Amino acid sequence: MSIAPYFIMLQDDFYRHLARTADEAVDMEITHAEGVWLYGPGDRAWIDFISGICVTNVGHGAPEVVAAVKEQAGRYLHAHVYGEAILSPQVRYATRLAEVLGPGLDHVYFTNSGAEAIEGALKVAKKYTGRSRAVAFHNAYHGSTHGALSLTGNTAMKYGYGPLLPRISHLPFNDIEALSVISDKTAAVFMEVIQGAGGAVLPDPAFLRAVRQRCDETGALLVLDEIQTGFGRTGTLWAHQAYDLRPDILVLAKALGGGLPLGAFIGREEVLSVIRRDPPLGFITTFGGHAMACAAGLAALNKIIEEDLPKRVFGLEAILKQRLQHPAIQELRGRGLLYAALFKDRDMAERVRLACLQGGLLTIGFLSIDHGLRISPPLTMTEEEMHLACDRFLVAVETAS
Ligand SMILES: Cc1ncc(COP(=O)(O)O)c(C=O)c1O
Repeated sequence: MSIAPYFIMLQDDFYRHLARTADEAVDMEITHAEGVWLYGPGDRAWIDFISGICVTNVGHGAPEVVAAVKEQAGRYLHAHVYGEAILSPQVRYATRLAEVLGPGLDHVYFTNSGAEAIEGALKVAKKYTGRSRAVAFHNAYHGSTHGALSLTGNTAMKYGYGPLLPRISHLPFNDIEALSVISDKTAAVFMEVIQGAGGAVLPDPAFLRAVRQRCDETGALLVLDEIQTGFGRTGTLWAHQAYDLRPDILVLAKALGGGLPLGAFIGREEVLSVIRRDPPLGFITTFGGHAMACAAGLAALNKIIEEDLPKRVFGLEAILKQRLQHPAIQELRGRGLLYAALFKDRDMAERVRLACLQGGLLTIGFLSIDHGLRISPPLTMTEEEMHLACDRFLVAVETAS
């Protein structure tokens, strides 16, 4: 069968049978992937400029990760529901994370996804503090399930899904005065260190310090959502390290599973232990911390550390900043390899996105702004590949202008 009829057939079945999130699909079929490259039928190939949205930080098909998955598959896939039996991939990964994160972040609860981990963090914070209110920020994204969507600071995304959780206040990001809303009735403050879906919005360090201080004054727990920013993406293993900010609960997902589905909320035992008493089984999940995902995640984390991938990020960022200059790019903002290119409006951003796809570069828009495109390639990208990606991006901008 030649490529085109095969693709058309697949596309027909995609539209007929797959519940999807938008009317139009992205015009690509991915048959395999390696390093920073995504391949399609025939000779189609794209540079992956988004890493599956900050998932494949170690690149596609990293041999260490593939070997760990194969090794675990040979032992068992699913052996027991989460948290009740001793499963070595979970224990080994939690121990390594605790080692890397240090005291106070040494108790790990594994979930399937980021949204599920946010739900867990919210439940734990409410029960631990005995309080019912929460604070989050405008344009934040914390997930699509009811609790996580309630914390999400994007009103449009909530349309038609109410009522959501009550007693959640959304404050403007980077506004110190607004923090007075955090009170001794607040169970937790949920915050991304750098707002990902908001378009790589950088925090003011003074604002971060004020958030920490307000949480300390009121007894509210500070929950940092590092689902996008974790695992070296912004040049340090965790974004909060760069700002000397300490969370009470850290939420991870995306790159946590090295390409397999995995989330986690992490804190001190005193806080996380509330789910095992009065009554026990306070937060349960069948597949959370899946053995394959933990094995893959551990291999990916070890690769990030052993090859010091966070250190590579700033060199690649420098190329990006130096190369992506064009009158139509109104702003290039972000940190490390979590960037947004902003254009004058949505139409221009969409034209650039389509031209990129045509020209062999995969990028995508943001949830909370409509005039930007994502730049978040694998951290393993070579300098030559970054130059090639920038060439393709600039050609697309020129075509779309
Ligand atoms: C910052 C942030 N929090 C939470 C989530 C939700 O994670 P998941 O899609 O795994 O449920 C995302 C996903 O994009 C995210 O970027």
